Amino acid sequence: MTGPVSDAVSTQGLTKVYRGTVALSDLDLTIRQGDAFGFIGPNGAGKSTAFNVVTGFQPPNAGRVHFEGADITAEPPYRIAERGLVRMFQRTSLFPEAGALDNVLTACHRLARTGLRDVLFMTRSHRVEEHRLEERARALLAFVGLGHKGDEPARSLSCGEQRLLGLAIALAPAPSVLLLDEPAAGLNAVETERLMRLIEGIRAQGLSVLLVEHDMKLVMGMCDRVVVLNYGVKIAEGTPAEIQRHPEVIRAYLGSGDALARP
Ligand SMILES: Nc1ncnc2c1ncn2[C@@H]1O[C@H](COP(=O)(O)OP(=O)(O)O)[C@@H](O)[C@H]1O
Ligand SMILES: [Mg+2]
Repeated sequence: MTGPVSDAVSTQGLTKVYRGTVALSDLDLTIRQGDAFGFIGPNGAGKSTAFNVVTGFQPPNAGRVHFEGADITAEPPYRIAERGLVRMFQRTSLFPEAGALDNVLTACHRLARTGLRDVLFMTRSHRVEEHRLEERARALLAFVGLGHKGDEPARSLSCGEQRLLGLAIALAPAPSVLLLDEPAAGLNAVETERLMRLIEGIRAQGLSVLLVEHDMKLVMGMCDRVVVLNYGVKIAEGTPAEIQRHPEVIRAYLGSGDALARP
């Protein structure tokens, strides 16, 4: 068992090489429970690679990943998600032809406690469980503001709505840590604002959030700590205020200090 003081996620010497390209080099990270952790860096800096390796979608060449005290290095993604470390995808609907609610419900089924016998014989416990999961799926859909779209096929939702559906699906297995890789990409200002309010609401419930986002204002406004990657190497880590005045960050990434000041 791990106590409440254990770190949510940590990495030690995490390294990923793609055909000679060092995408991630010797990354050490410690993310505490409830932290909002931002990842910034130029294109190709290794941000998505870090997420892929942490969530088991890619095996590292070296290094370890721990989640709530357990070594999860190279565990398959579904195992890692079951533990509570979940990644939201940009294009997420599991079944584009199926309704939005059914997509969330399918994701909720990972929580189901009934066995095959219950399913085959439609036992009372199975019916109770089905009802509980459906309630949960409806609540999640309502939470992201899609309560009225439950019957619409996922594919017919707008880009912004699909992203919200993706968020509901990511929340279905009741994660304790949520990874978001450019969640606002392709969204307009209103949709971005809405998504970010939701992410803040999720954080307020005690979840840790790991966020990759190009919009600097957004990262700086939402995150307690920020890591800066450049060519796979962590060049800085600190509070948003520390990062904004870090000379190496300004040189490597921000170009000039006023990149941060622009709205
Ligand atoms: N699946 C892959 N195969 C080969 N090279 C990859 C792969 N994924 C990423 N890379 C390379 O790794 C480096 C880091 O990429 P990435 O993690 O996607 O950066 P970021 O998300 O910060 O833009 C880049 O040089 C990229 O070309
Ligand atoms: Mg990326």
